[in-house]
Amino acid sequence: MNYEDFFGSAVDALKQEGRYRIFADLERKAGSFPNATYHETSDPALNSTSKRPVTVWCSNDYLGMGQHPSVLAAMHEAIDSCGAGAGGTRNISGTNHYHVLLEQELADWHHKEAGLLFTSGYVSNWAALSTLGSNLPGCVILSDSMNHASMIEGIRHSRAEKVIFNHNDVADLEEKLKQIDPSRPKIIAFESVYSMDGDVAPIEAFCDLADKYGAMTYLDEVHAVGLYGPRGGGIADQLGLSHRITVIEGTLGKAVGVVGGYITGSAALVDFIRSYASGFIFTTALPPSIAAGALASVRHLKQSSVEREQHQLRARTVRSRLQAAGLPAMESETHIVPVMVGDPQICRQITDILMLRYNIYVQPINYPTVPRGTERLRLTPSPVHRDEDIDHLVRALREIWQEMNLKLAA
Ligand SMILES: Cc1ncc(COP(=O)(O)O)c(C=O)c1O
Repeated sequence: MNYEDFFGSAVDALKQEGRYRIFADLERKAGSFPNATYHETSDPALNSTSKRPVTVWCSNDYLGMGQHPSVLAAMHEAIDSCGAGAGGTRNISGTNHYHVLLEQELADWHHKEAGLLFTSGYVSNWAALSTLGSNLPGCVILSDSMNHASMIEGIRHSRAEKVIFNHNDVADLEEKLKQIDPSRPKIIAFESVYSMDGDVAPIEAFCDLADKYGAMTYLDEVHAVGLYGPRGGGIADQLGLSHRITVIEGTLGKAVGVVGGYITGSAALVDFIRSYASGFIFTTALPPSIAAGALASVRHLKQSSVEREQHQLRARTVRSRLQAAGLPAMESETHIVPVMVGDPQICRQITDILMLRYNIYVQPINYPTVPRGTERLRLTPSPVHRDEDIDHLVRALREIWQEMNLKLAA
């Protein structure tokens, strides 16, 4: 086999479909996010050597915590006191006091007995679901059809039986639960906020079904932690439902502004995952500075609602301004503002023009992140986007829509 030809033609197929991923080479500016410097040289579509300022409109640093002074100070201090890396796996010399403090803080955030850190949210889903699914004898995992790739891969790796239920569909979930032998262990795996449409799961109804059919609940709050609830503990926290969820999983890489992932649950469950999950055991622990930064961020978000309130306000303003300009900004109950395009090539053209002509960076969202035909711009307004940033964005999109003869609402 000619391996190089194989790799090349597989990538060409993506290019032909218009879903070849080009990374924007950015230099984030601490203290002035969402402003960043864009290095054009790395974009093969452009024959340029320059760099220029851009406004980022698609970051998951939802609250700007990645530049919060208390987070930066905690990270500097931890580097100065503990050095760069953790120096080992959690079991072999890598557990730093910051990890222990952070796990306690996360458990408290979600009203749970214990917490466990992973190197990312992806790894936490993958490791926790694969460990539960492969160890619980005869386990069936019921998975929402829109679940994130990290959950899908974790379930696949577990080799447990998987049953997919229609997205957010309580009746369909019940129908599927009814057909499973009552004596088998069951896990209902779903997300609170779905990050591409911004819709929210019927958590309480799913918990009722879990009680009725003797299932565990596994909730991914990756796009909700820090953002919802009186202390930022997520949607389950906001609705007072944390105690009804068996496992709450989250990330430290989005609203918390750093990197890493975690699960929280009962002491017994967390001890079980800690003891059996390969993706937890056999990898170097997060650097102490990362744990220190995340700890400072979570502590801040627990006692400050200013960022959350401002975040919701900005998201509502951006959505209504876009809709008022006739642009197809989708309705959603959350902070995510999807603008539907429905074609990967057009999506890419729009984002290229935004970048080249307006210094606005939005990454096009294509298959397989979203279903084919629902390609879109996914805007993530934050408390640090200013009024003039919003004016500029709305004007730019309106001009592009007109120039490309795309449909505008009357
Ligand atoms: C729903 C969901 N779960 C998990 C993850 C993975 O989290 P992380 O980025 O921390 O790996 C993501 C990432 O985008 C996500 O959208």
